Amino acid sequence: MGESNSAEAVAIPDFFRDPAVLEDPFSYFAQMRGQCPVAREPHQNSFMVTGYDALTELLNRKGDVFSSCLSVLGPLPPLPFEPEGSDITDQLDSVRDELPWSAHVVCFDGSRHADHRALLTSLLTYKRLKQNEDYLARVADELIDKFIGDGRCNIVPQYGHATTTYAISDLLGIPEADRAVLLEAIGATPSQLDGDAPIKIGADPLIALKPLFDGYLRERIARPTGDLMSELVQARFRDGGEVPFETLSNLARFLFGAGQDTTSHLISMSVRLLGEMPELQQRLREDPGRIATFIEEVLRYDPPVKVAYRLALKDTEVAGVPVPAGSVMTASLVGANRDPAYFEAPDRFDIDRPRLRDHLAFSKGPHGCPGAPLGRMEARIALERLLARTSEFHPAEAHHGREGARHYNFQPTYTFRSLADLHIEFTAK
Ligand code: HEM
Repeated sequence: MGESNSAEAVAIPDFFRDPAVLEDPFSYFAQMRGQCPVAREPHQNSFMVTGYDALTELLNRKGDVFSSCLSVLGPLPPLPFEPEGSDITDQLDSVRDELPWSAHVVCFDGSRHADHRALLTSLLTYKRLKQNEDYLARVADELIDKFIGDGRCNIVPQYGHATTTYAISDLLGIPEADRAVLLEAIGATPSQLDGDAPIKIGADPLIALKPLFDGYLRERIARPTGDLMSELVQARFRDGGEVPFETLSNLARFLFGAGQDTTSHLISMSVRLLGEMPELQQRLREDPGRIATFIEEVLRYDPPVKVAYRLALKDTEVAGVPVPAGSVMTASLVGANRDPAYFEAPDRFDIDRPRLRDHLAFSKGPHGCPGAPLGRMEARIALERLLARTSEFHPAEAHHGREGARHYNFQPTYTFRSLADLHIEFTAK
């Protein structure tokens, strides 16, 4: 995966390294889509899939042709082998366990993936989420109580991040006393842009949480309670087979990690957009039933996960474009969500648009996000409570500049779209 010296390299920024793309990924994907809905980018040589139909096709393909083995980090670090021939399945199998995140379900393929995913989906039921709803509203109010008297707050750590850590902790059954500690422990996502940082991520980046989570799981094995970790330790594979302890450990930690930053980014981006659109903010206060629709449009317009990745294991094609075995596919969820061939005037934020829920923010196909209902519910409740407890909020000028010339800082990650902070000022009700 070397650097290309083609003329395109001059014109097209490096999606994976250029800090300017963090601020404005939309122009980048529009530029790539201008070439073709499936086109090689010139820096890491991955195929950028930016068209809605092409991306839908890719995400629905099976793992024996498009592997998810590098689903989190994509082309960085490069594969530890030079792909050879028209089928690299055996080459991949020989190094698979060394790849970053390889211990976690999001990177599995085929029946192994389906078996592990089924363990998770059987836990995240509608009934279970409903039980969590009252707790979420209470948490939101408690967090708001802490800053409501100040007339200002930093939404990212004080509201978005805290809401999502407490939400998944409650579902899993993490003791209340440990929740604040975990909130601190998670901290900021490590930079993906700092040179070799992604290369230092091992097969299990969540390993630091292992002693704590293994302790919880052992307690549940000895004395099951009604929480999600208790259900997990009692779960069986679809064929009735027992689930090894290490698998339970990986699943519990992945579940804990997977939904936090993503949902936190969704909450923060929603507050930012409402802060920029006072009329819409008032409309939602008057008609809270539309908050869920507003969230769908945030997910389409500026989703928390910018891209996912797949590795072509065999010579194949996507949207008629030949894709050789060994190609890294950058699945641009942002690009598809702004594809003018699918969404009319895609750069306009419009909660009344048709096909609003067709966005690909949660991906699609075999790896489509099983936590989507929970993420949506957390964001809806967080917004409902914030809107109900304030009569107006807006971005703080001292941090983000005047209206018409605002600026926001994003965390240095090419995979996620994450505001580093969001300072707002508000009038309490
Ligand atoms: C707004 C919030 C969220 C967004 C935008 C989001 C986005 C995504 C995306 C794009 C993927 C697919 C990656 C791929 O195709 O390679 C994914 C997978 C996943 N997500 Fe979410 N997610 C969110 C919330 C959650 C929550 C709350 C949970 C769990 C409690 C969760 C659990 C998972 C799991 C377990 C997977 C792996 C699924 C698989 O590989 O089969 N997510 N998520």
